[in-house]
Amino acid sequence: MLSKSQARTFFIVFTGGFSLVFLGLTVDTVRAVPERSHEAELSDRAKRGKRLWDENNCMGCHTLLGEGGYYAPELTKVVERRGAAWIDLFLQDPQQMFPGQRKMVKYDFTAEERRDVIAFLTWIGEVDTNGFPAPPDMTLSGAAPGTNAGQIAAAPKPGADPLANAPTMFRTVCVACHAVGGVGGNTGPSLDGVADRYTAEALDQWLADPQAVKPGTAMPNLNLSDDVRGELVAWLRARGTQETSR
Ligand code: HEC
Ligand code: HEC
Repeated sequence: MLSKSQARTFFIVFTGGFSLVFLGLTVDTVRAVPERSHEAELSDRAKRGKRLWDENNCMGCHTLLGEGGYYAPELTKVVERRGAAWIDLFLQDPQQMFPGQRKMVKYDFTAEERRDVIAFLTWIGEVDTNGFPAPPDMTLSGAAPGTNAGQIAAAPKPGADPLANAPTMFRTVCVACHAVGGVGGNTGPSLDGVADRYTAEALDQWLADPQAVKPGTAMPNLNLSDDVRGELVAWLRARGTQETSR
């Protein structure tokens, strides 16, 4: 049994000791925050984006750094995942991107406001989060663990980068949904050999207004200008002929 004075000493030494450890760790955390959050780089644009984020209650559906609603995707790394150009198009008309699925609100932001929101999301994405969120598990449920069945995209073929001379629009937007040479998403079909299936005119018509060609299609109307469509069609056709002549 401890005597009364031993018990007091025990209490004082350990309570005091652990309080000091706790204080030390608190000071260390407070010191580390400005650097890990790189708050010095928080531009005015990003601050305006944060205000739009708050005013529009994006947090009601989305999480940032794990905080918020679990209805919609985690957005901490969304700029890395989707790219600024894709997000800019998406915010203009979310329904267009995912017709008939869960609904993201259409906010009617101006181009400036969209840039603000994207600046804020870019800043958040660069916060040192110690690896959060973990990279997504790309195997679909149902696939046995450890097998490749259900892998989202085929592994890229070694060698040349299939996007090496792709137009910017393709690299930043189309690739989120379409793969070429095994690189890209699988919301839409792979576009390898698409030039064998479509003439230049048909491709152009498709890109100008997918709904008009195939009502109910999940391919969004991206409001592409004539120039951008021309560039895309030329590139897709050139890839096609390269492949067939090889
Ligand atoms: C009512 C719920 C809701 C609110 C509020 C909301 N979103 Fe969304 N958001 C969604 C859903 C659901 C998706 C998934 C795509 C879809 O089905 O439309 C999404 C998708 C996104 C994506 C694309 C994510 C990805 O990985 O593809 C971005 C970026 C985004 N939202 C930004 C915002 C911003 C910025 C705000 C606030 C200005 C906001 N959202 C407010 C429901 C919401
Ligand atoms: C949000 C996802 C999404 C984005 C972004 C997207 N597409 Fe698509 N695309 C689709 C889907 C889904 C289909 C299949 C449509 C169908 O068959 O109804 C499709 C079909 C196509 C087809 C027809 C392919 C075939 O084999 O029939 C072409 C060509 C095409 N997309 C080109 C593009 C280009 C070029 C871009 C960029 C400007 C682009 N897409 C952006 C989802 C997308």
